Amino acid sequence: MSLPWEIENYLESKNNQLHIDGVSAVELANKYGTPLFVFSENRIRHNIARIKKVESVIGCPLKICYAAKAMSTMGILKAVKEAGSDIEVNSGGELWKALEIAFQPSQIIFNGTSKEIWELEKAIDAGIYALQVDSLLELSLIEETAKRLSKRANVSLRLVPEIETATHSGLQTALLTSKFGMMPGEALDAFREFKDSEFLDLAGVHLHIGSQNPDAAGYAEALEILFHNLLVIFNETGIRLSHLNLGGGFPVNYLRDHSLEAAFPLEQREMFSADFEPADAIANAWNVVKSAAAASNAEHLLNGLTLLLEPGRSIIADAGICLTSVRNLKTRPIAKSKTEDDRWLLTDAGFNVLLSMETYKWYYHLISADRAGEAHGSPYKIAGPLCDGGDVYFDHEGLGRLPDHRPLPENAQLGEVLALLNCGAYSLSQASQYNARFMPPVVLIRASGKPELIRKRDRFEDLVSNDIY
Ligand SMILES: Cc1ncc(COP(=O)(O)O)c(C=O)c1O
Repeated sequence: MSLPWEIENYLESKNNQLHIDGVSAVELANKYGTPLFVFSENRIRHNIARIKKVESVIGCPLKICYAAKAMSTMGILKAVKEAGSDIEVNSGGELWKALEIAFQPSQIIFNGTSKEIWELEKAIDAGIYALQVDSLLELSLIEETAKRLSKRANVSLRLVPEIETATHSGLQTALLTSKFGMMPGEALDAFREFKDSEFLDLAGVHLHIGSQNPDAAGYAEALEILFHNLLVIFNETGIRLSHLNLGGGFPVNYLRDHSLEAAFPLEQREMFSADFEPADAIANAWNVVKSAAAASNAEHLLNGLTLLLEPGRSIIADAGICLTSVRNLKTRPIAKSKTEDDRWLLTDAGFNVLLSMETYKWYYHLISADRAGEAHGSPYKIAGPLCDGGDVYFDHEGLGRLPDHRPLPENAQLGEVLALLNCGAYSLSQASQYNARFMPPVVLIRASGKPELIRKRDRFEDLVSNDIY
């Protein structure tokens, strides 16, 4: 019988040990030490192919731009490129990485609220597909910069259309209360003002409704808004946009193993267990837009259009596993009860490598990699290694957003290797050396089945490499 977290030919229990693409997680942990991140090239390819299916349900070309912020270790960017994705970057650093990996400029789009002039210069000089503009002021800076470089900049204006989704408040990005983008009216003014600029190609409009969106209907609302803006811009200025960018945000089911579902408040449960096919959501959205276009006699504006998506999490989250070891065990009376004890396991992976666990109370399913096939029925309180009371795997603020205990096989052992699943997105890319902890190594299991080290563990010198002393 298959276990609830297993995924055929990817994550499996064999000989009682977790195997990732057929490779023993315990052997990898023994070879490279823990904490260790392990990624699957096959799973990355599978996830990109899943999103590519969108192309067959829309009436225009699709451009998938992987959101590099989700995970941008060079070996991963390379695997993403080889799997046929373009890229979305959010800083001059990510742009540099993308160019280093040999993404073509036509494969790159650049988001960001506070871009610096050197970043604009680099993007314009490279001639990327689109700079996504966050304000009218930024658009004028882009024009000035392009003029100075005697280049033409491709731009797309980011709208903030007030679409609310049931995701975590920190992941909402299309609300007026969010820091992103501009009001549709401001964007229209911008198109009017810069319509004849010889240094700007006003190519598209963009929005991103947030990350881990549980509701597929949000995409229909968003695409309809984009199309409505495209139509108004055409009618008011004569500019015919060549692309619409619907952003990212497709959810990942972090609760495929239902065993702990009841431990979550309803909202958290719905968010963490969200699951829909991107192609279904976008097929529905496209139909809505087709009807809107027909109703306003503007179907011709769909011709020659390209649809952009910026998925991050849905490409990389379930492709990455964090292996961690039990480094300490203790028992402690449960507060207000002298009769029962909590059993605590202290691991070597804390919010230094999984920051969202602390900031967003994010849930990563935990299993024993050493004893993957055994019943996980014994409750443990789990905490990381950091000198910080918030470095725990439960909700230390007492608001119950995470389960208090994690079930593992009875008699957890010192040195036992545990695996946190679905850790590929927004983990290593947000990791730090807090407490002078080494940034962990990363192994990528190639499509051939061969594990390859794509990032070494930090050494002592890395902890001070930029310090002057
Ligand atoms: C503008 C933009 N695009 C794309 C993404 C990627 O979102 P996700 O990883 O949920 O697909 C983000 C992250 O929130 C974003 O801010």
